[in-house]
Amino acid sequence: MRKPIIAGNWKMNLLQDDAKALFNGIKEFADKYTAVQLPSIVIAPTFTSLSVVENVKCDCGCAGTKIAIAAQNCHWETSGAYTGEVSVEMLKDIGCEYIIIGHSERRQYFSETDEMINKKAKSILAKGLIPIICCGETLEQREAGITDSHIAGQIKKALEGISAEDIKKSVIAYEPIWAIGTGKTCDADEANRVIAMIRNVVREVSNSEAADAIRILYGGSVKPSTIEEQMSKSDIDGALVGGASLKADSFNEIIANTMKVAV
Ligand code: PGA
Repeated sequence: MRKPIIAGNWKMNLLQDDAKALFNGIKEFADKYTAVQLPSIVIAPTFTSLSVVENVKCDCGCAGTKIAIAAQNCHWETSGAYTGEVSVEMLKDIGCEYIIIGHSERRQYFSETDEMINKKAKSILAKGLIPIICCGETLEQREAGITDSHIAGQIKKALEGISAEDIKKSVIAYEPIWAIGTGKTCDADEANRVIAMIRNVVREVSNSEAADAIRILYGGSVKPSTIEEQMSKSDIDGALVGGASLKADSFNEIIANTMKVAV
């Protein structure tokens, strides 16, 4: 069985004090449970707040992490003349376990390509961290009926040259761009259909073991009121949450509602 993941993407929000307060609000909730009872909780603050939040180890002796930390981006090279960039090694050094790559905002505003996302994924896995590889279609692509072929192309390129062992550990987030930050969630059955399609693409480019193990999340206006239905679907393994992750109450409720149906 795949352990669900609830990941909060804080995007370019929160100064250090607010980041610390929000993190503490989530930690307070998580501390009522052991890591085994909880979904994998992943928090992705800005680079400047990575040092104020920290991986919280479970105190029950299970060696699990109750809250893991993610970065929202990275560079694929280890070091060098890349002004403004941060390497995987640096993110590992500060305690990150996951790195989000290929978010639609990075593709749209920073011209990130599938080739760059593939290099980032390889670099992340080589350092023993977990990539959260984002994919998704625009409204125009959906209306043109090319959702599946577009996403299949993104996934094939992102996973090119990556071993089945590494794919097994990876995470994919399916985020229809028209659902991000709009309040419009993708119908749960449709999200599940696309995610099952992505799983089949993984089966095709890798193998069945990798396809059955990789965790594939849904993202796009996830709220406490939508998560139960989403998590009840066979192929949806969790959520990448933007807006609703910026308040401890709503993020904790998303975790609690996930635990009702899926941990
Ligand atoms: P949203 O963002 O939950 O605010 O729609 C999701 C994301 O961009 O990861």
